[in-house]
Amino acid sequence: MTMTLPKRVTLVEVGARDGLQNEQTPITTDIRIDLCNRLSDAGFPNVEAGSFVSPKWVPQMADTAELMGRIARRPGVIYSVLTPNLKGFEGALAARADEVVIFGAASEAFSHRNINCSIAESVARFEPVARAAKEHGMRLRASVSCAMGCPYQGEVPPAAVADIVARFADLGCDMIDIADTIGVGTPRQTQAAFEAALTVVPVARLSGHFHDTYGMALANVYASLELGVSTFHASVAGLGGCPFAKGATGNVATEDLLYMLDGLGIETGVDLAKVVAIGQWISSHIGRKAAARAGNALSARLAA
Ligand code: HMG
Ligand code: MG
Repeated sequence: MTMTLPKRVTLVEVGARDGLQNEQTPITTDIRIDLCNRLSDAGFPNVEAGSFVSPKWVPQMADTAELMGRIARRPGVIYSVLTPNLKGFEGALAARADEVVIFGAASEAFSHRNINCSIAESVARFEPVARAAKEHGMRLRASVSCAMGCPYQGEVPPAAVADIVARFADLGCDMIDIADTIGVGTPRQTQAAFEAALTVVPVARLSGHFHDTYGMALANVYASLELGVSTFHASVAGLGGCPFAKGATGNVATEDLLYMLDGLGIETGVDLAKVVAIGQWISSHIGRKAAARAGNALSARLAA
């Protein structure tokens, strides 16, 4: 059976945020700024640049206000930042972010570990953020962590995904990310999570955010494409992980995702060669090999 896949996919580059939030090697603000600039130059329509969260919880993102003030804004690019509460929103507003991201979970246990409150409390906290975003004409996105499994509670039923997606839809979120925080999902499970979300919102408002911990991310992207999902998050060089999900590794590597999408004839507007170079460059600053299979292969071919 041949499925019709989307002809075009929107990529959200999350390396500067999801990638570097978990990085133990100190990365200077200048390098983070350079990373954002290189990514926008490579053609990404959305660059997730940082987080306005407690610096005690995630010190790596403490310089987000400075970064947002100093990056070279490329016209048309959406610069997004994480905002867990009104204090975070105020930071995002002052920094002239285009999109704010509220982040909740389909798992109670993870909600407590990540943002220190229950799912219901988190939604109550997000309400004023959502209202403020609308008042200021900013795009509003929401992330649903642990949609395929939780490091603390284990299995997460698709019904729990539908529940939190419904709450985010009620808040008026433009986009809702279905996130596999610890990369445990397999393709049919991914489809089940999306099918649950699709009972609440149309596919155009859903995106896939897959960590590659178990090597399933590309397969899960493909399974999502089969359902018509056409927005995906990826991290250059496969950087990243969540500090509150021990052992979780980075998102699907952007280079690998682009290589697959290019091969499928799906347009992204992103220049793979540029992304390969960025992946090698940022990995050299971090001091380890990029976790991007296609990226490393293409880079080796160029060097030969
Ligand atoms: P809390 O301790 O419950 O909050 O933390 P609080 O309101 O009691 O505030 C405590 C302190 O934090 C206070 O400072 C506040 O001012 C400060 P103190 O008086 O102790 O000096 N504070 C802030 N500072 C800066 N910006 C803010 C802010 N809010 C409070 N916005 C809170 C609650 C949500 C703040 C905390 O738990 C937190 O910051 N968590 C960060 C979680 C995080 O960033 N996780 C990683 C990103 S999510 C992710 O990676 C998943 C995703 O990729 C999808 C996926 O893969 O699943 C999106
Ligand atoms: Mg993530």
